Amino acid sequence: MPHTIVIFGASGDLTSRKLIPALYNLKRKKRLPEDARIVGFSRTAFSHDEWRKDLRATTQEFAGDKFKPEVWDEFAKQVFYHAGDIGDQADFVALGKFLGELEGGQNASRVYYLSTAPRFYGQAVEQLGKAGLACEDGGCDRRVVIEKPFGIDLASAKALNNTVHAHFKEHQVYRIDHYLGKETVQNLFVLRFANAIFEPIWNRQYIDHVQITVAEEVNVGSRAGYYDSAGVVRDMIQNHLLQLLMVTAMEPPARYAADPVRDEKVKVLLAVRPKTPKDIARDTVRAQYDGYLKAEGVPENSKTATFAAIKLGIDNWRWQGVPFYLRSGKAMSCRTTQIVIQFRQPPHMLFKEGPKTIRDANRLIIQVQPAEGIQMHFQTKVPDAGMTMRQTDLDFNYQKNFGGSIPEAYERLLLDAIEGDASLFARADEVEAAWGICDPILNTWAATDQPKLLTYEPGGWGPVECTEWMAAQRREWFDACPVLH
Ligand code: BG6
Repeated sequence: MPHTIVIFGASGDLTSRKLIPALYNLKRKKRLPEDARIVGFSRTAFSHDEWRKDLRATTQEFAGDKFKPEVWDEFAKQVFYHAGDIGDQADFVALGKFLGELEGGQNASRVYYLSTAPRFYGQAVEQLGKAGLACEDGGCDRRVVIEKPFGIDLASAKALNNTVHAHFKEHQVYRIDHYLGKETVQNLFVLRFANAIFEPIWNRQYIDHVQITVAEEVNVGSRAGYYDSAGVVRDMIQNHLLQLLMVTAMEPPARYAADPVRDEKVKVLLAVRPKTPKDIARDTVRAQYDGYLKAEGVPENSKTATFAAIKLGIDNWRWQGVPFYLRSGKAMSCRTTQIVIQFRQPPHMLFKEGPKTIRDANRLIIQVQPAEGIQMHFQTKVPDAGMTMRQTDLDFNYQKNFGGSIPEAYERLLLDAIEGDASLFARADEVEAAWGICDPILNTWAATDQPKLLTYEPGGWGPVECTEWMAAQRREWFDACPVLH
């Protein structure tokens, strides 16, 4: 069956920076089906060749030395353009006609990729439905991929889900969180469920706490217009960090398939202990980097948090009493995404030399990016020094072990969408449960102004008060920039 991928928002940044380079890379690796066609849809009037020419330049830039002109020429034959307006029903009817011609009247599988501004997601879905392009009653193969952000709070996410479900069945809907397309995040499934040695200790009996950090060195740059209305919770925590939390904390699914996996992930979010405003004042830290207010497009009195740390509890048998600390910020020391599993100290201290504090206890660090790998920290006797001990590590690094480069998340996700595998996409209930955790935090911050919005110097690990907050809980952040090999 031929495949058609229609990209709405074809003249946008995401299309040229991520989607087309990812599809080109799939072509280069001979994974893009020969009979797949990519159709761009946006208001700009382009001929097929004009669009191809533009994309060639940007793909060359983003694919770097992976760009091969002969591969591009073959790829370009699979790329087409159709101008249209999301607001105009007639344009969707015309699109349907164009797709039909392109597919030669054959029954093709279609992926509609919504990469427009988020305010158009609902309208695009409605237009597809009304133009008879959704085919929700079966008989043809249609999927819709929806970019983030999926709503700006629980109410808007529910409203968008309702609109989507009026035209597409849930199994046709692929909500993107590009963190799930990262190799290291998928490897978490493998680490936990394809090895026998981790799962028996992956629980409250052995683990003291878990830290999930997504630090970014960049500041908001030219995205302030969008960012100021989002802030770190909507931009990063509601989606990427909660996804990392789910994959870290979920129970083993019955099968590795879309619904069994997502059933277990959702259960984690449903077990997250709800917070009262008093809990939120105590269990969260929010801050803004010094200089944010001077960024173009930021209102002078903006209280948008560019950094947050949030302590969550998970009320189930595995995790009762184990805090999960989520932390993310812009303008930090370095770019690093890491999951730190901090184990408890041994139950009986045999050596007066240690391990003395939780910092000396075992630690498993999953380096999600950019130094993709896993390290296990453990105590070792220093030779020829009595019983002095020091923390050393077993270090697994993707680059050293596998060579080559790690593919972009979008490659995997686009291929999965084309092939109809929704395992790495968020389900409606998952997105709503995630908003259910974030809404009370955002509402409390706005309504009570508690905790106070702090300030931090760019280039560090967030506000000093966040370090003190952790110390007051007799714990310590693992603040280390990864070593790039
Ligand atoms: C996006 C956010 O979803 O993720 C950005 O909107 C952020 O603000 C980006 O910079 C981070 O993605 P990655 O893959 O670079 O960690």
